Amino acid sequence: MASQAFSGLLEAIDRGAFPKTRKWLWRGLYNILSRRWRDDDWRFMNYGFLPPAPGIPLEQEDEADRPFIGLYAQAVAGLPMKGARVLEIGSGRGGGARYIARYCEPDSVIGLDYSPATVALARRLNRDTPRLAFEVGDAEKLPFADGAFDVVINIESSHCYGDVAAFAREAARVLAPGGWFSFADMRGRATLPLLRQQLAVPGLVLRGETDLSQGVITALDAAEQRKRARIGKIRFMRGFISEFAGSQGSILYRELSEGGVVYLAQRYRKEDDFRELPPPTISDAPKA
Ligand SMILES: C[S@@+](CC[C@H](N)C(=O)[O-])C[C@H]1O[C@@H](n2cnc3c(N)ncnc32)[C@H](O)[C@@H]1O
Repeated sequence: MASQAFSGLLEAIDRGAFPKTRKWLWRGLYNILSRRWRDDDWRFMNYGFLPPAPGIPLEQEDEADRPFIGLYAQAVAGLPMKGARVLEIGSGRGGGARYIARYCEPDSVIGLDYSPATVALARRLNRDTPRLAFEVGDAEKLPFADGAFDVVINIESSHCYGDVAAFAREAARVLAPGGWFSFADMRGRATLPLLRQQLAVPGLVLRGETDLSQGVITALDAAEQRKRARIGKIRFMRGFISEFAGSQGSILYRELSEGGVVYLAQRYRKEDDFRELPPPTISDAPKA
């Protein structure tokens, strides 16, 4: 029953069906999760990523979250983070924004999320971290000025959106010229061309794409025990939550392993202003 419900949800996401209803349902679900489970040591809500190479250095207190931090570490690897104004769209409980604020020396990090209860929880869980703030808002209508950020991060959130292209246009709008947009999420393999099309908005130039699926499965395996312990304490909707969490044996775990679902990372650069100008015509050329 829980598997069927989850399978229906995955299919609806892939087809882009019922965009407004899905958006409303996701917000309700995250509000419930954040009101019911407020554990201090639960700061991430992603499936994680563990690369084959040795991992990034982490402080002891963050080791337990290594699989989940992995998605953020790959998202910012090689980007000019020092002194950057960073926006995370769909920041959840704030663990990823916290990692960036603590490890990447940014000027500031804002985490934005559609679920008010999740934003309230993120504020509480991360109040000890300087240069970090959380706001309620919609990925498809960002409450920020044009060019306000140098780096925009989006991890495992876009599958909840009603209009992914509107989100990508907003990410492009709030980026300063030369800024970076780093994206990661999963989709059914058959709908990857649609996703690429939705993200290819004017002003953003694709600079890299990676299939993270294998490292996501490694992370799911690494986090299995901890997840089981948490799910074991839950009394209602246990089957659905287990599917939702991507536990071993879940539809998502199987689909990722068999290649029906792909976890994709992409990064884009916002064009510099000068590149957006058309080349000068003869009549524009300065007169001698
Ligand atoms: C799977 S969680 C991932 C959270 C976080 N990125 C992480 O990796 O821990 C997805 C998050 O996206 C948020 N979200 C869903 N739709 C959104 C929207 N339209 N605008 C902003 N955030 C949204 C949800 O409330 C949820 O917190």
